[in-house]
Amino acid sequence: MTTSEQSIDSLLRENRRFAPSPEFAASAVATPDLYEAAKTDRLGFWAEQSRNLLHWHQPFEQVLDWSNPPFAKWFADGKLNVAYNCLDRHVEAGNGERVAFHWEGEPGDTRTITYAELTADVKRAANLLLGLGIRAGDRVAIYMPMIPETVVAMLAVARIGAVHSVVFGGFSAESLRARIDDAAAKLVITADGGYRRGSVAPLKPAVDAALKDGKSTVQHVLVVRRGENDVEWTEGRDLWWHEELGKVDAEHEAEAFEAEHPLYILYTSGTTGKPKGILHTSGGYLTQVAYTHRNVFDLKPEADVYWCSADVGWVTGHSYVVYGPLANGATSVIYEGTPDHPEPGRWWDLIEKYRVSIFYTAPTAIRSFMKAGREIPLARDLSSLRLLGSVGEPINPEAWVWYREIIGGGQTPVVDTWWQTETGAIMISALPGVTETKPGAAQVPLPGISIGIVTDSGEPVPAGSGGLLVVTEPWPSMLRGIWGDPERFKETYWSKFADRGYYFAGDGAHLDEDGDIWLLGRVDDVMNVSGHRLSTTEIESSLVSHPIVAEAAVVGASDETTGQCVVAFVILRAKKAKSVTPEEASEKLRAHVAEQIGPIAKPKKVFVVPELPKTRSGKIMRRLLRDVAEGREVGDTTTLADTSVMQVIAEGYRKRGGEED
Ligand code: WTA
Repeated sequence: MTTSEQSIDSLLRENRRFAPSPEFAASAVATPDLYEAAKTDRLGFWAEQSRNLLHWHQPFEQVLDWSNPPFAKWFADGKLNVAYNCLDRHVEAGNGERVAFHWEGEPGDTRTITYAELTADVKRAANLLLGLGIRAGDRVAIYMPMIPETVVAMLAVARIGAVHSVVFGGFSAESLRARIDDAAAKLVITADGGYRRGSVAPLKPAVDAALKDGKSTVQHVLVVRRGENDVEWTEGRDLWWHEELGKVDAEHEAEAFEAEHPLYILYTSGTTGKPKGILHTSGGYLTQVAYTHRNVFDLKPEADVYWCSADVGWVTGHSYVVYGPLANGATSVIYEGTPDHPEPGRWWDLIEKYRVSIFYTAPTAIRSFMKAGREIPLARDLSSLRLLGSVGEPINPEAWVWYREIIGGGQTPVVDTWWQTETGAIMISALPGVTETKPGAAQVPLPGISIGIVTDSGEPVPAGSGGLLVVTEPWPSMLRGIWGDPERFKETYWSKFADRGYYFAGDGAHLDEDGDIWLLGRVDDVMNVSGHRLSTTEIESSLVSHPIVAEAAVVGASDETTGQCVVAFVILRAKKAKSVTPEEASEKLRAHVAEQIGPIAKPKKVFVVPELPKTRSGKIMRRLLRDVAEGREVGDTTTLADTSVMQVIAEGYRKRGGEED
C-alpha cells in the first residue's frame, strides 16, 4: 500500500455524516442557489459578489482579462481603496461604534477598538508613512507580535497604496533579512518585543541584525512599544511609533487605486531553498476574502463575534484576521499569546469571555487540545459557539468529531477549508447550512471556483481514485506572480499542465464516490508542520551551511500532533566527525537551523549517518528515508545505487532511539 492509500483507508473509517440543522439552514447566509448562479454565469457571479461586497470608487466594467495567461487581471478598469473598504465606509454607514477588535494581550491586558477608532488610527499612521517618504508601490516590511498596531500598520500601508510584506515574528534575523532584501523594503515596522509564554520575546534585535551591514534599502525602522524591554537604538534610522504618530495630522483621505494595484507580498516556502514572494493585488483579492468570509463562516456582522487564531505572519492572518473580517464589518477577537499560557484553558476562557460565536483554527491545535483532555474545555461555557472552521492541513476524522462534539457541543457545523498562500482565499469547503458534512473531507469547491483532481497527464480521475489537485479556471484572489521572478511563477504553478492552462497546487487529493474531495498532503518537497509550510530544501541548505556537515537530507515524517515533523539525516565531514559525538552533532545542528531559519523549522531529530540513499543518477531518495523515519519496512530500493545503505541507516535509526516519542 502506498502512503496515500493508507491514509485514505483510515480516513474513510469514520462514516458519520452531519446534515445542517433546519434552524441553521433557515437563517444561513449561503444558500444552495449560489452554486446554480455561479455555474450559469461564473464571471457574472463574481462581478455581482464584488459589487455587493465592496465599495468601488470607480466601478468596473471588465471582469476578467485572461488574454495573457498565467497573468490574470480582475476588475481591471475599476478603482478602489482597500483600507477605505475595511474602515471608513463602515463608519460612514453609521457603524463606527461597532467593535472591530477585542484584543487581549498574553499578560491579560485588553483593548477594545471600534471601527471609528481603528479608522482614526490608520489615518494617522498613513500620514506618518507619507511623512517618511513612503509612496504608492514602495515596500514596507512588518515584523510584529499580535497587537492592534500590527493591523493598523498593514492597513496604513494599504491605504497609501504601498505594499506590505509581513514577516512572521518567529522567523530569524537571517530569514527577515532575505525577505527585506528580496522586496527591497524602504521601511521596517517592528516592536520592541511581544509576550510569549509569560515573558517578553524581543523582536528589535533581529531587525538590527538583519540591517547591520548597512547595505539594505531600508531607510527607517519604526518601533512600537509593547514589551518595555531595552532596545538598541540607531539614531536617524530608528523612530518610536508613538512619538512620530503624535506629530502628524489626524485627517487622511483615501485615494482610489486600480484594482490590480499590488496589496502585499507574503513569502512562503517552495521546493527550492529560496522562499517565494507571493504577490496579491487589491480588487480581486478583497472580493474573494470578503465573499468567503461571509459565506463559509455564515457571518452576521451585527451579531457575531468571530475569532481566527492565526498569526498575521501567515496568509490565514492576512485574509481571515485582517482583510476578510474588516471588509465585512465583523467584530473579531485577537489574542497575542500561546494557547496554553498561563494555563491550558486560555483559549476557552477567551471564547467564554467574549462570547465568540465563530471560531477558526488549525487541526494541530485541535489535536493538542485533545491530548490535554476534554475536561479543560468542558469546564467552560462555550455555548456561544455556532460555527467552527479548520484550516492549514488535513483534519483527521477523530479530531473533526472531537472538535464538533467537545468544542461545538455536538451542534455546530464544522467547515474544513482548503486553500493556500497562493490562492489568497478559501477554495474548497462545505457551506454551512447547505452541505451535509463529512469528517475528514474538505468536500466541494466553493461556488465560482473550478477544481479538478487529475492524473499526471491532466485527465480527470474517476470517482473513487486519487490524483493531483488543480484549479482549472482563474479565480479573483489568485496570486498575480512571484515577486521579481515571473519565470519561477510560470514554472512552479503553470508548467505541469501548460497545455490545459491548469494551476498546479502541489497537493494530492482523493475523489470519493459522491464527488467529495479529500486532501492527502503535499506531493512535492514541501512539509506541513503544525499547519506551517516548510521547505525540505531550505532546511537542507541550512544544515550543509554548518561546517561539520558534508551532506544532508530532510524529510517530513508523520507526527500525531503536528501532522508532520522535520527529520534530518546528515553525513558529517570526515575530519570534524571525530571531534563530536553524534548526539552533540545532532543538538548543534538542531540549534543551528532554529537560529538560521526560525524555531518552527528546527528538526525534531537529526540522525548522523554514514551514507544517504541515492539513485544511480545521484538524487537523494527521500521516500526511503521517510519510510525509516516513520518506522516502516524500507520500501522498493531497486533504483538505489547501493542497496546496503538503507539497511545501515535503518539499523542506526532504531539503535539511536528513532522509536521513542
Ligand atoms: C495545506 C494555508 C488539507 C495544503 C491556508 C496546502 C490543507 C498548504 C488544508 C497551504 C486543508 C491547507 N486540508 N490540507 N483544509 N488547508 N492545507 O500556504 O497542503 O500556509 O497546499 O496556506 O496547506 O499552506 P499555506
